[in-house]
Amino acid sequence: MTPSVYPPKDFKKIRASGDIVARCFEFISPHIAPGISTGGIDKMVADFLRAENARSSSLGYHGFPAHCCTSINDVIVHGIPNDEIILKDGDIVNVDLTAEYKGFHADASRMFMIGNVSTPARKLVQAAQDAMNSAIAACGPGVPLSEIGRVIESVVKPHGYSISRDFVGHGIGKTMHDEPQICHFYEPKLDRVKMVPGMVFTIEPMINQGVRECVIDADGWTARTADGKLSAQWEHTIGITEDGAVIFTEKING
Ligand code: MF3
Ligand code: CO
Ligand code: CO
Repeated sequence: MTPSVYPPKDFKKIRASGDIVARCFEFISPHIAPGISTGGIDKMVADFLRAENARSSSLGYHGFPAHCCTSINDVIVHGIPNDEIILKDGDIVNVDLTAEYKGFHADASRMFMIGNVSTPARKLVQAAQDAMNSAIAACGPGVPLSEIGRVIESVVKPHGYSISRDFVGHGIGKTMHDEPQICHFYEPKLDRVKMVPGMVFTIEPMINQGVRECVIDADGWTARTADGKLSAQWEHTIGITEDGAVIFTEKING
């Protein structure tokens, strides 16, 4: 396994791509409300990336037909935006955006709560965000990759939630998906793999209210919880520095 390890000059470039992703979220956020279609979200993403001279890394990836993924309620990941799918009061939706700019990719996703969302759904969304943030805070040189999953388990297990095992975080940089794979559950084999400065990867825990297993729709992409219960995910692209980790998928100027 050769993890993607990048020099400081490439960190700057991934940071620039991450800034575009973060500003794209800022651009679409005010419009994500009851009545908008997920196809409408995709159109806004496409327009924003075009204006920034960036491109969607997802469009055409293994034939993926859209610029972002929109995963509603029981959809764990890879929901396909569609003009017919309308967000309604009470939905929780993940929008996942990966942008390529000047040859470097950055990948992030976040949850949106549509109108009045039930308390159990809010708690799930919060736990998934806490899990991602705690895992990021634990990263740094010399830290085993297994620590990410261990920390995520420590945050979500007390709530009785499960962690999807079918999808992983990933190295990223000159390609969207690279080594290493990032397990969001504790994997003892990764105790021996240590983070080193220059590594760039995503952390993107998918947290389920019920069982961890998924089923894939006939479209070949949409992954849903096998029991139909809710799933929530947050994702950032991070880089390992001499003294910890930096988040690339945040705005450069605040
Ligand atoms: N952004 C996704 C990830 O977190 C990948 C999307 S690939 C697509 O890895 F083809 F589904 F768009
Ligand atoms: Co993503
Ligand atoms: Co990712």
